[in-house]
Amino acid sequence: MPTEAALRFVGEPTWSALSGHPVVTDVWSDAHEVPHVAIGRTADLVVVAPATADLLARAANGLADDLLTSTLLTATCPVLLAPAMHTEMWQHPATRANVATLRSRGVVVVEPAVGRLTGSDSGPGRLPEPEDLLGHVRALLSSARSGDLAGRRVVVSAGGTREPLDPVRFLGNASSGRQGIALAEAARDRGADVHLVAAHVEVPLPAGVRTTRVGTAAELHTAVVAALGGAADTAGSVGTGPADVLVMAAAVADFRPDAVAGTKIKKTDGAPVLRLVRTVDVLAAVSHARPHPGLVVVGFAAETGDATGDVRHHAEAKLAAKGCDLLVVNDVSGGAVFGSDVNRVVVLAPGADGRAEEVAATPTLDKRAVAEAVLDAVVHRLAGPGPAAPDRP
Ligand code: CTP
Repeated sequence: MPTEAALRFVGEPTWSALSGHPVVTDVWSDAHEVPHVAIGRTADLVVVAPATADLLARAANGLADDLLTSTLLTATCPVLLAPAMHTEMWQHPATRANVATLRSRGVVVVEPAVGRLTGSDSGPGRLPEPEDLLGHVRALLSSARSGDLAGRRVVVSAGGTREPLDPVRFLGNASSGRQGIALAEAARDRGADVHLVAAHVEVPLPAGVRTTRVGTAAELHTAVVAALGGAADTAGSVGTGPADVLVMAAAVADFRPDAVAGTKIKKTDGAPVLRLVRTVDVLAAVSHARPHPGLVVVGFAAETGDATGDVRHHAEAKLAAKGCDLLVVNDVSGGAVFGSDVNRVVVLAPGADGRAEEVAATPTLDKRAVAEAVLDAVVHRLAGPGPAAPDRP
């Protein structure tokens, strides 16, 4: 449904040949079918990408001077607008007011990307990449249809924390954030309202989930506690109540330097001796505090066997010590999990006899498939106590 302006960029025959569908811009073609009403009523989702400053203004004011804006007035489904324009136009008070109006009506207006624009300028205003838009589309469709996590709030932590030594150095770890982000995306696609607390990650952040960036273990703790309570995010959108699920996939530092140098540590001062102190164990703290009833807390355990016991022995001890409801256990003996696209896990839950019970086990799968298996166990847990969840085929 191109606007007249869109047809100046891409001609009608190209739209119809590539889409395999008729292409209409005005409300006068096929008038007997009243297309603006028919399309608006039957759509599952309306996406306008790119949405120009002019389109935003027309939509905000309820104009209906072509098929697209008329359809926006008749659509009862979710509406996603992906603005693309020059930075000055995006930042103009008129556009800001139009975006605020549309958002207040429940229209999803995504933030434009930052980068090269038409011409030689660059800045905020670029159309987001197709994968990002697809992420928003998936999120909207899954919340409109009922996935098995529809209506649930899920908080996921991902990535590796960084504990500063001085203004330029830190103690970090090898976590890429892939597994946590796969969990956030899978939960989003199963209908959950997802809040991602992201430490350092090496993969793009997912679209369609609220995200809080953190650096240190202490910041992660604060952000997770706020997200669990349904606190407002930095963009000012308001959380919708306490979370149902916390998935602690982040690799959180166990120790931090007891003092952070205010200025860069110079080698001429000699090799520094670092004194480390314990950080808060976020998983254990939340599990033991149980901020609200019904919260399902999922921990991760990266284990290797050693002289004191095998992987299962250490995992059972960790499940008991952390007090979480589910523990996703990685055998990292080969060192192959961090940064990899695949994973293989066993999910443990506290059993009736005080011993850990294995509620799921996966073969080596991509991290998205592992995420689905973990969420199957979560959904089973949310449904209440009962026999162990069957493995996903
Ligand atoms: N975790 C946490 N806060 C910490 C350390 C870990 O919340 N300060 C969480 C992780 O997000 C993960 C789980 O605890 O879900 C287990 O992390 P892991 O590194 O395997 O265990 P540790 O508790 O650090 O124990 P250890 O390193 O001694 O095995």
